[in-house]
Amino acid sequence: MNRRVFIQGTGAALITFLLSGCGLALQDTSLASKDTKTADKTSKGGNKMKITVITGSPHKNGTSALLADKFIEGAQKAGHEVFRFNAAFEDIHPCLGCDRCGMNGPCIHQDAIDKKLTPKLIAADLVVFVTPLYYFGMSAQLKTVIDRFYANNVKLSGSGKKAILMATAYDAKDWTMAALTHHYQTVVKYLGWEDIGMVLAVGCGSRPLIERSEFPEQAYQLGLSLS
Ligand SMILES: Cc1cc2nc3c(=O)[nH]c(=O)nc-3n(C[C@H](O)[C@H](O)[C@H](O)COP(=O)(O)O)c2cc1C
Repeated sequence: MNRRVFIQGTGAALITFLLSGCGLALQDTSLASKDTKTADKTSKGGNKMKITVITGSPHKNGTSALLADKFIEGAQKAGHEVFRFNAAFEDIHPCLGCDRCGMNGPCIHQDAIDKKLTPKLIAADLVVFVTPLYYFGMSAQLKTVIDRFYANNVKLSGSGKKAILMATAYDAKDWTMAALTHHYQTVVKYLGWEDIGMVLAVGCGSRPLIERSEFPEQAYQLGLSLS
């Protein structure tokens, strides 16, 4: 399914998409002008990024939360600005497919996704998806958030954002993360974003297991290395 096919899925969405040509062009121009202005710099001299981290576990101190903590620690040390949205602890609702948004917002759900996350998501240079592996895919909490991207698809797609996936799983087979990573890469490709890294913590089904593994350090270094 390519973007054209997906967007042609609804008449309203198609009209919105066509009308939004100007909007997208304006958005690109403003991004370009932001780049040529004196963009905020990190301590290493790189561009300061706006990062939105979306977590999907119901365990506040679970394994994937540790990856998020470590990544954020590294990214903030490098001088980036981080917003964290813990989907499992927010008032969120699944997409109803009503199409009232016309893929260009607002959503009929006036919940934490629309009010808290969406402005940060649209402004983000980098979006980090963090999830435990649930039946070889992402958790329902994270999927609920991603389905709600639909209401702002016009603004999000082609916006040149970067993306990262971090996931934890009990199993450690060579195919344990295959379906999840394929789904993530497909979503990123569809949105026209760029995957810049993954931390796939296999064999990490509990906190003691992940604390003994190399993955928290990988997450920290990934955050620290961003420029
Ligand atoms: C509903 C559910 C489904 C799961 N499915 C898988 C799975 O398909 N493969 C796997 O290796 N582990 C699976 N697990 C184990 C979790 O991915 C693992 O314990 C993970 O570390 C939990 O992350 P958290 O502490 O961040 O919540 C599942 C756990 C639950 C509760």
